Amino acid sequence: MKLFIKKPISQLLASADSSEKTLKRTLGPISLIALGIGAIIGAGLFVRTAAAAGGHAGSAVTISFIIAAAGCALAGLCYAEFASMIPIAGSAYTYSYATMGEFIAWIIGWDLVLEYALGAATVSIAWSQYFNELLMTFFHTSVPYQWSHSPFQVSDAGVHGIVNLPAIAIIFLLSMLLIRGTSESAVVNNIIVIVKVAIVLLIIGFGWHFINPANHTPYMIPADAGSVKLNTGVIHEYSDLTNHGWIGVLRGASIVFFAFIGFDAVSTAAQEAKNPKKDMPIGILVSLVICTVLYILFSHVLTGIAPYKEFLTHGSEASVSYAIKTYMPGYTWLSSFVTVAILAGFSSVMLVMLMGQTRVFYTMSRDGLVPKVFSKLHPKFSTPYKSQWLFFVFVSLFSGFVPDSVVGDMVSIGTLFAFVLVCIGIMILRKTDPNLERPFKTPLYMIVCPLGAIICLCMIASEGWENWARLIVWLIIGFIVYFGYSRKHSLVQKGTVSIPDDPNPPMIEE
Ligand code: ALA
Repeated sequence: MKLFIKKPISQLLASADSSEKTLKRTLGPISLIALGIGAIIGAGLFVRTAAAAGGHAGSAVTISFIIAAAGCALAGLCYAEFASMIPIAGSAYTYSYATMGEFIAWIIGWDLVLEYALGAATVSIAWSQYFNELLMTFFHTSVPYQWSHSPFQVSDAGVHGIVNLPAIAIIFLLSMLLIRGTSESAVVNNIIVIVKVAIVLLIIGFGWHFINPANHTPYMIPADAGSVKLNTGVIHEYSDLTNHGWIGVLRGASIVFFAFIGFDAVSTAAQEAKNPKKDMPIGILVSLVICTVLYILFSHVLTGIAPYKEFLTHGSEASVSYAIKTYMPGYTWLSSFVTVAILAGFSSVMLVMLMGQTRVFYTMSRDGLVPKVFSKLHPKFSTPYKSQWLFFVFVSLFSGFVPDSVVGDMVSIGTLFAFVLVCIGIMILRKTDPNLERPFKTPLYMIVCPLGAIICLCMIASEGWENWARLIVWLIIGFIVYFGYSRKHSLVQKGTVSIPDDPNPPMIEE
């Protein structure tokens, strides 16, 4: 048994063959950029920005966005090279299996659960906050606190959460939708992208006049900023190392990093791009640049409208609506519009993540690394319905019972770790396999790859021991599964060329 055995590219192509026939090369650079923006703008901007500003970075959360964007851009270039080496659609798991071997592919695939499944959970919790805001705005009612919060949360009035039912409900609805095989059309995606960008622009445009310079002074949180008592009774001390100054900005970057997750979705569309060599890097980098500019302006306005400390207390939920309603008199309509649009925008992000999750596990199951149940297709809809149900249960446990700050941090650390592996992997592959065909090459790779890995590692370092421990525990569980199950069942290890084709090919492509 070889730990670093590689999946032959011919085998990858063979298994992708059926889906290859159904995929048309229709996506030009604009569509790819729209795809990227559609998957990127979501809860990270509308919920996590306030958390990063309130707890760690203050108004300098704008700098946090720049650091996170730099890490993503450098890792994004490596991703693009990775994606272009394997001429089929797939995820980092697929590419790494063919280039870096089974063990690394396993770690990345296992790690992607943090990105996709827990990413969906994080967005569902944010969705629940804005759903309550919507009920409040239009019907003057809301889901009672205990039924819309995890057991680890406490309201201003001292009510303890029990379970976050709206978060579980939206995951349930979207899972059902995916089981029926609804694939988001490009038209719907484009509409959602336009709406999302429009909200961000409206908030920047109207909010700019309500910036109170006092809220931006000082720009970075000083060590003597005092403390804030959270509803849970915990005292948030700004004098703590990661809660002020530059380290606070770095910690903020690891939080808002969530807002960029999803840009790698562009790389999975390599097979559908008209001219992947040129358009893939354009799709990845331009969508990143557009989002970064929007994010910086947006966070500058948000922290200018409301004092950052309020984002830890009254403004900790549905923070954008809170800031508009509290500090922008006469703009209640904007807050209502933002709430409705955000609900729609979040749904599309969750849909992509839930689908991405079952897609990765579908491939891993076909490779024998996870049980066959994950590639079992629905007799009528040809979707991996059992997998979708299993992930519904898994994601719900986090959506319902864990606070967004914890799940969000796990998503960030898991994805950052995958990025580090991709950056290092690309550097190593240039040495070990210099002759592999690379339609897109990372420029200045001896600088870009290590710098990308270092920036991502710095963000991981700022996340603190609790998050490191969560990542390590997740990886240890992964190692147990790998050495206890996957290695023995791996088709590549067994030398099986490919498993027989399903009678019903899935509606999702590898
Ligand atoms: N980037 C996505 C979001 O912010 C995951 O919701």
